[in-house]
Amino acid sequence: MHTAMTNRRIAVLGAGNMGRALITGLLRSGTRPEHLSVGEPSAASRERLARELAITAAADNAAAVAGASVVVLAVKPEEARAALGALAGHWGARPPLLVSVAAGLRVAALEAWCGPGVAVVRAMPNRPALVGAAATGLFAPRAVAAPQRAVAEQLLRSVGEVIWVASEDALDVVTALSGSGPAYLFLLAQLMAEAGERLGLEGTAARRLAAVTLYGAGLLATSGDGDLARLRAEVTSPGGTTEAALRVLEDAKLSDTVARALGAATARARELAAACPD
Ligand SMILES: NC(=O)c1ccc[n+]([C@@H]2O[C@H](COP(=O)([O-])OP(=O)(O)OC[C@H]3O[C@@H](n4cnc5c(N)ncnc54)[C@H](OP(=O)(O)O)[C@@H]3O)[C@@H](O)[C@H]2O)c1
Repeated sequence: MHTAMTNRRIAVLGAGNMGRALITGLLRSGTRPEHLSVGEPSAASRERLARELAITAAADNAAAVAGASVVVLAVKPEEARAALGALAGHWGARPPLLVSVAAGLRVAALEAWCGPGVAVVRAMPNRPALVGAAATGLFAPRAVAAPQRAVAEQLLRSVGEVIWVASEDALDVVTALSGSGPAYLFLLAQLMAEAGERLGLEGTAARRLAAVTLYGAGLLATSGDGDLARLRAEVTSPGGTTEAALRVLEDAKLSDTVARALGAATARARELAAACPD
């Protein structure tokens, strides 16, 4: 990793699932433990962090952020206001860059809670961050300078791939597509396994075949030029088994259904964001 990142002091607030995934990724990509501090109120989570990653977390966020040039907000959205409000006014002479992974919390609200001087970048990673294979959407308002954008990008790259989006609204679509996306693919794989079982496969075999198919298809989809339509065509010989199945999916209007599902998720992300107090 770039030295600009490895030499920075990074504080992570919240050592739950996403916080731990980020800490693991940072350590794996070269951040030294002494450059990493963690604020986490739960004694059980602090103990787990010490046991699994040999990182000592502070119960007090103010201690964790002291001297940090990057603060990662990885607490639940409903906990963010209190966590940041307690730190506002105590950032010291050089306020940090705040990188928030909290779903739905708008830049304006985060800036207001942090107080003046703190630059904010929002990230929307997904659950495969737990295995270093996240798809993350990143957004920064225009005022955030290029070096700070680069720092946020490197941080999220430690858990997977990063795609910048041009507007904050687009992050709601990222939430609908890649944020919730693993659930759609798990559902499809589950339905395939269940159908395979009904057609005569043993249950364990059907589930494993579905899961490994999901994994292998993912590897192919992310290698090469990523042309999904071509990859599908390559599996679909004229008059063959795949074509027979795809025709049934088309007849069932799968593309309309997927479009409506992502529309519903985007609308829900916007409702949740609107319900969040500034
Ligand atoms: N998990 C995902 O796949 C995913 C994907 C995209 C974005 N995110 C975002 O990531 C954030 C964390 O999600 P998660 O799944 O990791 O949740 P989580 O497992 O509940 O982790 C949140 C952690 O933050 C701790 N916490 C609570 N208040 C705090 C405070 N004031 N200061 C510091 N730490 C505090 C919690 O401690 P207690 O246990 O004591 O409450 C908990 O350990 C959320 O905002 C979510 O929107 C998650």
